[in-house]
Amino acid sequence: MSNSFWKLSSINAFRKIRPAARRRLAFTCSALLIFCAVAALAIAEGSNEVIPRSQEFSDPDGRFANYNQGGPTDISKNPFFQDLGTNGRRCVTCHQASDAWSVVPAHIQARFEATHGTDPIFRPNDGSGCPTQDVSTEAARREAYSLLLNKGLIRIEQQVPPHAEFTVLNNDNPYGCASTTAISAYRRPLPTTNLLFLSTVMWDGRETFKNSDGTFMPVAEDLAHQAVDATTGHAQGAAPSPEQVQQIVNFETQIFTAQTHDDAAGDLNARGGQGGPRQLSSRQFFIGINDPLGLNPTGAQFSPQIFDIYSNWAGISDRDDDEHAAARRAIARGQNLFNTLKIPITGVAGLNDVLHTDTINGFCGTCHDSPNVGDHSVPAPLNIELVDGSLRTPDLPIVTVMCNSTGVITQVTDIGRAMVTGKCSDIGKFKGPILRGLAGRAPYFHNGSAATLMDALNFYDTRFNLHLSQQDRNDLVAFLKTL
Ligand code: HEC
Ligand code: HEC
Repeated sequence: MSNSFWKLSSINAFRKIRPAARRRLAFTCSALLIFCAVAALAIAEGSNEVIPRSQEFSDPDGRFANYNQGGPTDISKNPFFQDLGTNGRRCVTCHQASDAWSVVPAHIQARFEATHGTDPIFRPNDGSGCPTQDVSTEAARREAYSLLLNKGLIRIEQQVPPHAEFTVLNNDNPYGCASTTAISAYRRPLPTTNLLFLSTVMWDGRETFKNSDGTFMPVAEDLAHQAVDATTGHAQGAAPSPEQVQQIVNFETQIFTAQTHDDAAGDLNARGGQGGPRQLSSRQFFIGINDPLGLNPTGAQFSPQIFDIYSNWAGISDRDDDEHAAARRAIARGQNLFNTLKIPITGVAGLNDVLHTDTINGFCGTCHDSPNVGDHSVPAPLNIELVDGSLRTPDLPIVTVMCNSTGVITQVTDIGRAMVTGKCSDIGKFKGPILRGLAGRAPYFHNGSAATLMDALNFYDTRFNLHLSQQDRNDLVAFLKTL
């Protein structure tokens, strides 16, 4: 483990400590950094600390901030931070303020080292590759929790729905969870922030519900349902009370997260930049906003100009006092690429088949259409073939699925939306997620297969034959890091 990593995790934990305890710790800590990182973590767990209205954290590319519109939140009172289950898990166990409300491998590893793998995130029900794995010694735990430690993945087990249109013929699972009816998938915790911009809750949309008239329920109702399932599932508890659920939903729906400072470009609000969570919190959103397929309730035309956060930086001049000008121009170029790069979209189930078009002349924004947020503004699960058998890495399962009516056989690392609907056409489909606060929560994609934003971009470059130049890649990634 590198020194800079310890520095980062101890600083993050340090920020969470009450001022008096912090002063005492600072005094003793200078010489004993590693011990103190552990002590700081322990104190942070037990303190009566408050989540302030605004809180900034370091990430590998600079800093991001959480803006809590609900005002300071006492974590000793809000059930998001309380032990509601039976295994020590809390929502905050997997959704951490310091990790842009997801949880990142470096900090999971720090928790493992600090507790010898007994921190509540390390529980065999869904933290290990399979509940049958040995977790009796530290070495065994290191192995059983390897996916969590390396990629921050949690096991999601789902039953093949009754009357599914498909049969699972084989489930090659490296951890022993090889059932062909109860299927284990491994997924990244989605961040519990910017939630008011969601059209779809969970990677596979399983917590997004419709009213009896076919319209979608308000996201707050989806989230209430989700909070119950998270408590009974991850925390192995009884259902929380309606009051507790309400407090959880009130808390999580008032948080906004975005990058505020970039190592190369400096303050993301300077010289007309519109970065950071406060600006984000005032952005407009409704289901269908800027939809490309005619689902915008206002009838407005789709615009691929999804982001305008850094438009003022496009022509920024080299001033004597501004060493950031070149980096800012690069970010503006990256934003422009996101908005204008032509992507020949082929073979995407959920798009090409729906439109009966072999090649859609699209953009990043065809699937990331919510203005200045970047998620899909309607529930529209898509198969961009991340789960294709050809991209399987040895740490992931490979499931062989046959469509009963056609006999067509596919191999995927995660069945995705089809485990919710039972439909063959939904195999491998996932939602287009929010693209804000990215730098603070690597790795990317539901299965953590992209360690960096460059890796994510390279996936698209190959998948859609984009042939991006190195400069274009660098600019696009420079932009994504500032979201
Ligand atoms: C053991 C880790 C863990 C715990 C504990 C946990 N979550 Fe999660 N959370 C996840 C994972 C993994 C996902 C994504 C799973 C998927 O989509 O299949 C997720 C997804 C979510 C989402 C969906 C966000 C979106 O963009 O769709 C919300 C909201 C959420 N969790 C809230 C909570 C709440 C509230 C609690 C406490 C009651 C909680 N979580 C406890 C791991 C956890
Ligand atoms: C055809 C639809 C489509 C297009 C085009 C598309 N995306 Fe995506 N994007 C998705 C879907 C679906 C996901 C979620 C995939 C998953 O994890 O299963 C995603 C995920 C991502 C993620 C990971 C986010 C996270 O939280 O892990 C990034 C970053 C991203 N896209 C950036 C881009 C960029 C940049 C472009 C343009 C070069 C682009 N996307 C074009 C559909 C698309």
